[in-house]
Amino acid sequence: MARRTTSVTAAAGLLILGASCVFLLSAADGDGGTMRYNAMFNFGDSLSDTGNLCVNKSAAEELLLTFANPPYGMTYFGHPTCRCSDGRLVVDFLAKSLGLPFLPPSKLPGADFRKGANMAIVGATALDFDFLKSIGLGYPIWNNGAINVQLQWFRDLLPRVCGTQQSCRPYLAKSLFLLGSIGGNDYNAMLFFGFNVSRAKSYTPNVVDNIAAAVERLIELGAVDIVVPGTLPIGCVAIYLTILPSGDKSDYDEHGCLKPLNDLATYHNSLLQDRLNRVRARHGPAARIMYADYYAYAMDMLRDPARFGFTAPVAACCGAGGPPYNFQLDARCGMKGATACGDPWRHESWDGVHPTEAVNRLVADGWLRGPYCHPPILQ
Ligand SMILES: *[C@@H]1O[C@H](CO)[C@@H](O)[C@H](O)[C@H]1NC(C)=O
Ligand SMILES: *[C@@H]1O[C@H](CO)[C@@H](O)[C@H](O)[C@H]1NC(C)=O
Repeated sequence: MARRTTSVTAAAGLLILGASCVFLLSAADGDGGTMRYNAMFNFGDSLSDTGNLCVNKSAAEELLLTFANPPYGMTYFGHPTCRCSDGRLVVDFLAKSLGLPFLPPSKLPGADFRKGANMAIVGATALDFDFLKSIGLGYPIWNNGAINVQLQWFRDLLPRVCGTQQSCRPYLAKSLFLLGSIGGNDYNAMLFFGFNVSRAKSYTPNVVDNIAAAVERLIELGAVDIVVPGTLPIGCVAIYLTILPSGDKSDYDEHGCLKPLNDLATYHNSLLQDRLNRVRARHGPAARIMYADYYAYAMDMLRDPARFGFTAPVAACCGAGGPPYNFQLDARCGMKGATACGDPWRHESWDGVHPTEAVNRLVADGWLRGPYCHPPILQ
């Protein structure tokens, strides 16, 4: 139904030449006032990549991507789409709720990006590759899709989306931007390759500065509505719990999460909000910066899974090894030896790294209507 409405209005839009049609487009769609954006543009990592890393099939095969294999996509799509989930991602649910199509990966040749594009790519970092290399992390970072690189991809496709810089400004002012979550891979690279938590924390100002700078770059291009998610409670994620266990019981909280890692996540999130406040102060009402609280929502789901319909808060649905985490590095989801649970909708974690579609659906709603986005996207 929503798809039909969209294609009808798109066809009507074609009859009206020029950039002004985009305003008619949003005004003409009476879908409960939700058709408020021309387009949506997303930047990020595996939490929101809708296929960029798999566009080049030979590169994808070389990398032996686990998430390009079944059972990824088992709940929705019915086959792997290179999304790191059993189905849709937060960005997919947001697009659907806003009356927009699923965002095509920005690297997809010949795709139509007028209703949005997704620059996110698995493995992306907030810090530039050269910076990571300078602190000894050149090796684990194999994907040069840092946020600044994604911004360049976006600039490169703008002429096809909205024409000149001048005609793009009003178009982008009526588009929704989603910047992240990003930063998780920066910390993965640090923590999985020998940095302790306090050393990782010392780079948090660099990480959040890069995110805030990207927000500034988008505003310069004409963006107004920008959602910036914080990071997830990484101390409750199966891969961390498995790879970085602590011998000190006091490092675990009452939910079995690693406190030092969650401290890093909350530190990142508070510093990020501080930087976003500065951007808000600098631009006033010319920019609407929304902080999306991944952390608080995920923690609420972990504290009281039943309230959200979950029975397994931490254990991966798809993996190997059984309780408590069902995560094994050499038998990850999509590899030989891993199996998927029959009820992914009861699990919060899909593969021990990424959330299930069930979580993504809830998160999208919590960001659209609140209370997990400040201010909510649809407010
Ligand atoms: C695709 O990946 C292969 C293997 O890594 C590489 O040689 C080739 O240049 C890539 N093609 C494009 C269009 O990026
Ligand atoms: C963390 O690592 C840094 C640098 O390698 C070191 O100086 C510091 O003592 C370590 N901190 C802890 C708590 O182990």
